Amino acid sequence: MKYAFLLYPHANIRYRESLKALAVEELRMTLAALGRESEVKTCEMGGATFLTFDASKLTARDVRMLSQLACVYVMFTMEDGQMVPMESSHPDYVGEDLPSLLKYKGKTNEMFTDTMMTMALAASDFMPVHDSQLIVCDPMAGRGTTLMLALRRGYHGVGVEIGKADVKEACDYMTRYLEFHKIKHKKSESSLTVKGKLGGRETKFVFSDTAEHFKDGDTRTLRMILGDTRDTAALLKPESVHLMVTDAPYGVQKGTAGKQDSIGGTLGAAMEGWYTALKRGGVLAISFNTYVTKREQIETLCEKAGFEIVKTNNLEHWVEQAIRRDVVFAKKK
Ligand SMILES: C[S@@+](CC[C@H](N)C(=O)[O-])C[C@H]1O[C@@H](n2cnc3c(N)ncnc32)[C@H](O)[C@@H]1O
Repeated sequence: MKYAFLLYPHANIRYRESLKALAVEELRMTLAALGRESEVKTCEMGGATFLTFDASKLTARDVRMLSQLACVYVMFTMEDGQMVPMESSHPDYVGEDLPSLLKYKGKTNEMFTDTMMTMALAASDFMPVHDSQLIVCDPMAGRGTTLMLALRRGYHGVGVEIGKADVKEACDYMTRYLEFHKIKHKKSESSLTVKGKLGGRETKFVFSDTAEHFKDGDTRTLRMILGDTRDTAALLKPESVHLMVTDAPYGVQKGTAGKQDSIGGTLGAAMEGWYTALKRGGVLAISFNTYVTKREQIETLCEKAGFEIVKTNNLEHWVEQAIRRDVVFAKKK
């Protein structure tokens, strides 16, 4: 059977071109994880871009997983030159707008991050795990784009972020969102110790899509930790998260204690803790600016910590004049 998936249009043509390679890889990796290795091609029809592939009839489970593809707008089957739309079957757990409403400088494009999350899931051993069990960590969470995307899918999210203002903004936004939409929830705060000293502060949200589910304990959790990602081993339990999806800072940034620290330095100091927090079979997806950090450097740091690099097609793409982005996927075997 032939399938044609229409990609989301993007207003910026260079960005649209950039996302094409990611879209192909997102679909290819997901099909492979579903046991349906297939060659994915791009083609233009009626002025729009489609991904096409051949496969035997997709099951309901396949369609559910494919409905999560971040770059795909509508899925079609193609028979005798006729395109028939397929029903998307992955309902959003919370509103579709949760990851997109909050706008700020330095925010990572949601579609790109969502693509990374799909690819990380496809490369992990956790594709069969039910949404309600999956925990996604962003160890450099900013204002939480990755975490909000995870919550939208019905996963749990845990973020570590060193910027006080970023954590506050993320938590205030989450509070406003839950209250505005009258989503049943509980919010709590606690302090975390690192090496016997106060080393982090956690804000925890527990919520449900419906009041009945909340009453039954069928809930999702967002934990936002104000702390240093280099302390991950102390902040998160070992083998407690399924996926780690993060965007490394795009330029040189300040480390803790006001010291100027290179991105490589921060990642190097954090990597072992990240490895410990990830479950076996889990995947770390890390995007970076190739003008600042080199792929070989990140791959070496991952391998030194025990990760195995997941091979993908070239994903390097233009973002803006000062940013060319690439992604490394690394698996904990
Ligand atoms: C590219 S931004 C992430 C943006 C995020 N994806 C978003 O959309 O909001 C990188 C983040 O890493 C954080 N960061 C840098 N060093 C850190 C450290 N040692 N511990 C925790 N977070 C750190 C920065 O404060 C920044 O918010």
